[in-house]
Amino acid sequence: MRYSFVFVGLSCLAAVGFGIGATQKSVSSTVKIPKSVTYAENIAPILNAHCTSCHHDGAVAPFSLVGYEASKKQSANIASATDGKRMPPWKAVHGYGTFLDENRLTESELTILKTWAETGAARGDVKKEPKPQVFSNDWDLGKPDVILTQTKPFKLEAEGADIYRNFVFDLKNTEPVYVTAMDVKPGNRKVVHHIIGFLDAGNGATRLAKNNTDGQEGYTSSGGGIGTVPSGSLGGWAPGVTVRKTLPGTAFVVKPGTKIVMQVHYHKDGKPEMDQTKLGLYTTKVKPEKEVDILWCANPMFQIPVGAASHRVAWKQTIPADATIYTVMPHMHLLGKSMKAKLVKSDGTEVPLVFVDKWDFNWQLVYALKEPLQVKKGWKIAVEAIYDNSDANPYKTNRAVTWGEQTTDEMALLVIGYTSDTPIDMKTQIKQMVLDFAKGGN
Ligand code: HEC
Repeated sequence: MRYSFVFVGLSCLAAVGFGIGATQKSVSSTVKIPKSVTYAENIAPILNAHCTSCHHDGAVAPFSLVGYEASKKQSANIASATDGKRMPPWKAVHGYGTFLDENRLTESELTILKTWAETGAARGDVKKEPKPQVFSNDWDLGKPDVILTQTKPFKLEAEGADIYRNFVFDLKNTEPVYVTAMDVKPGNRKVVHHIIGFLDAGNGATRLAKNNTDGQEGYTSSGGGIGTVPSGSLGGWAPGVTVRKTLPGTAFVVKPGTKIVMQVHYHKDGKPEMDQTKLGLYTTKVKPEKEVDILWCANPMFQIPVGAASHRVAWKQTIPADATIYTVMPHMHLLGKSMKAKLVKSDGTEVPLVFVDKWDFNWQLVYALKEPLQVKKGWKIAVEAIYDNSDANPYKTNRAVTWGEQTTDEMALLVIGYTSDTPIDMKTQIKQMVLDFAKGGN
């Protein structure tokens, strides 16, 4: 019974996971501030490098920023969104940890965007405009080796609470399948909120699907869990997340008998809708030297008082085996304000992991470390999370908030993508967590 919180943590995968190594796409550029700012020479290069991957027709953002006309129409919004650091959506503080594909604007780029909006958004010399970018809304990494999808479109009612629907797939593999990436094509963007790929080595998910009586494929579970303890995860998909392959020599492993559970978080939109989502797997025949897995670094023992503007939840978790860390993903809900995580070596030296200073529930990014980090058994991960349950937060509640699955509950969780020669299975993780808490936790 005393371990039960960890299972809650596991099922919270729903909001988590978004892909080992899934990050935002972009290229960075440095610019000096010119005398007169034009679209052709100054603005297009910035938008093309930092914005259009999401802001093009058919992509995740609500409007396109491709070409002069579209961008001019948005010039004031572009200035305000970038100045307010809402866009591009990159939340990790620069310089605290170093990540792949950091999508951040320099101060001079911010000034250029602002100046352009304030000076009438001129086009400039059309001949100097960069060549129009071509976007494909097809699979980013090419056609997946395996595509899993519901046999029939799933019917969603018009109204009611969000649901978590689990579709169970059996690859029927007799040998392990090595997965280097998972990508998703949501069937109906209006209702698909996000998707997680779970692994179930047992028969729990299969049994739940079989016993389901609502006449449709799969089964609905509550709050984001899959109704049984999963044995792993392939990560997930959310708007804006771009998929990358695991590093050479590493892969997720789907053992014979293990099922893949595609969990779709549906958000009802007031009309009956249908959805048939595709989950694509990229595989390799080459046996990986190391298996990619997920380490949960969580503190489920907190209570955020009513009215608290800066409630601090801090904890340290011991790393149970030598390992290599590739990705970090802070996870909180609507009261989250900031999260800072660092590594503490046995000699007390500290290494920054990640710092999100302005937490935004809508942008839960997975940050891929530029240099994977070798860590030793016994080192600690120290996390500090700050929550705001005061009037300053539009999502404040009128109760003391504790750990839970619902969005209106909270979490204090850092999800770590790692490889290790010594598998750190769930039992080992739970044991370590309990030991750490028995020693005071922080
Ligand atoms: C990872 C995908 C992504 C990237 C990259 C991105 N956007 Fe967005 N943008 C979105 C999404 C999704 C929304 C709608 C939801 C929201 O507002 O958060 C949005 C909303 C906006 C809005 C309207 C809302 C607001 O906050 O004002 C503006 C303006 C905007 N983006 C400008 C930009 C600019 C300029 C860039 C590049 C510097 C950029 N975006 C980069 C995904 C992206």
